[in-house]
Amino acid sequence: MILRSKFLFPWILFGAVIYYIFSRSSFSLPPRQEDFKQRFIGCDLSNGTWVRDNGSNHGYTNQTCKSLPESKNCGKYGKNGDYVRWRWQPARCELPRFNAKEFLEISRGKRMAFVGDSVARNQADSLVCLLAEMEIPKAFHKDPEDKFPIWHFESHNFTLMVMWTKFLVQGTERLINGSNSGVYDLHLDKIDQEWTKKLPFINHIVISSGHWFFGKIYLYEGGQLIGCIYCSEKIVRNNDPAFGLRKAFRKALQFLNKAEVFDQDNLIFLRTFSPAHFENGTWNGGGYCNRTRPFDEAEINLAGTYWEIRNAQVEEINKIKIASSRNAKRRFELLDITKAMMMRPDAHPDTNWNNQWMKGYSDCVHWCMPGAVDMWNDMLLTLLKKYLLEIGSGKAE
Ligand SMILES: *[C@@H]1O[C@H](CO)[C@@H](O)[C@H](O)[C@H]1NC(C)=O
Ligand SMILES: *[C@@H]1O[C@H](CO)[C@@H](O)[C@H](O)[C@H]1NC(C)=O
Ligand SMILES: *[C@@H]1O[C@H](CO)[C@@H](O)[C@H](O)[C@H]1NC(C)=O
Ligand SMILES: *[C@@H]1O[C@H](CO)[C@@H](O)[C@H](O)[C@H]1NC(C)=O
Ligand SMILES: *[C@@H]1O[C@H](CO)[C@@H](O)[C@H](O)[C@H]1NC(C)=O
Ligand SMILES: *[C@@H]1O[C@H](CO)[C@@H](O)[C@H](O)[C@H]1NC(C)=O
Ligand SMILES: *[C@@H]1O[C@H](CO)[C@@H](O)[C@H](O)[C@H]1NC(C)=O
Repeated sequence: MILRSKFLFPWILFGAVIYYIFSRSSFSLPPRQEDFKQRFIGCDLSNGTWVRDNGSNHGYTNQTCKSLPESKNCGKYGKNGDYVRWRWQPARCELPRFNAKEFLEISRGKRMAFVGDSVARNQADSLVCLLAEMEIPKAFHKDPEDKFPIWHFESHNFTLMVMWTKFLVQGTERLINGSNSGVYDLHLDKIDQEWTKKLPFINHIVISSGHWFFGKIYLYEGGQLIGCIYCSEKIVRNNDPAFGLRKAFRKALQFLNKAEVFDQDNLIFLRTFSPAHFENGTWNGGGYCNRTRPFDEAEINLAGTYWEIRNAQVEEINKIKIASSRNAKRRFELLDITKAMMMRPDAHPDTNWNNQWMKGYSDCVHWCMPGAVDMWNDMLLTLLKKYLLEIGSGKAE
């Protein structure tokens, strides 16, 4: 891990703050640490730019991480390696690089779950690779489709898992003449129990969803058809993906706020929408993503559906923060990666590999590993530390 000296100082200070909290029962911080804490908490990690960082090293490579999925191993399939040489620079502070030792210390005895689709899995796979520097976990892949994998890090008794769900709420694919149609019926007021039944005793949750909402979907509430995404029929109101997605997140957050399934402190992150970058065609219509450098702020579209979805997610998390403010044991946080990732059309696998994952199409949805997706875990660790500082100093909002 190569750290520049300007990063080292806050790290040491930060380590001291964490050490202080764990080693004392009194939480009034000395003035200098208090100052650092304020600076850190006031910083918006989601707003910034990607800066060139030729010395950058994510702590793992496709050689050192044995669990790196074939479909994300862009280096192996000949993608130009430039996409790893960028560092996310928030406008007003530094985002420290991931530190496996620190992450495992914080996670000792805890259980963490990524809830969502294959992009949630992408983040979990990145985390396992980042942690592999410290420990190769025991991996359990019990279900045949590998949608609920579990990793156990024995040295710290830390358990990491993925809970697969397309929509967070209940969705069923319509069968037409016995075969899958790609058309879904979605009940926006019914939680998908495939993931919620596995929730008990989980401390940290990262929920996300997104790409499955970009299809033909009939939307129901109270059993009544209330709308449809991408429909040509005029019989029901047509809505856009953001409409259905907002309601699905609202339901999931309300469920998590009420659920009596947790027995201790819980931190729930909503990882915001992860954009796709198909150009000159749709995913199944010849679209591709072969750019070789990040976009700057002027090149991204903050007026489109992606940003609308992200804004809906921000609004929903803010609502649930208010609704849950009396529950000191449960907190909701945003893991806001949308803008940063909108700037990374260069960081997807595209066509640089030849396995069956996307059946010959370009993959402009998932993210190469190592690569830009590792930043999500930099951010996750920083937010976990922020949370510990806040509860540690008794200043939880
Ligand atoms: C990084 O490397 C590229 C190409 O090798 C070079 O053009 C660029 O100036 C370097 N940037 C920095 C900040 O060192
Ligand atoms: C790792 O990526 C490099 C390119 O960065 C490639 O040459 C190599 O074959 C890959 N190795 C493995 C084991 O995937
Ligand atoms: C993002 O940072 C830039 C540069 O500091 C600032 O001009 C802009 O207002 C910020 N945007 C948001 C949404 O905070
Ligand atoms: C490991 O952590 C789990 C909670 O995730 C706890 O129930 C169990 O007792 C712990 N085991 C040990 C040996 O500390
Ligand atoms: C279903 O199969 C029947 C009989 O083979 C056929 O007439 C009908 O067009 C098919 N429906 C669809 C939607 O493909
Ligand atoms: C898409 O097509 C346009 C027009 O032909 C071209 O300018 C642009 O560079 C293409 N996009 C990519 C990623 O190649
Ligand atoms: C991307 O692919 C398009 C279509 O094959 C090609 O015209 C363009 O030159 C490519 N761009 C880069 C940067 O390789």
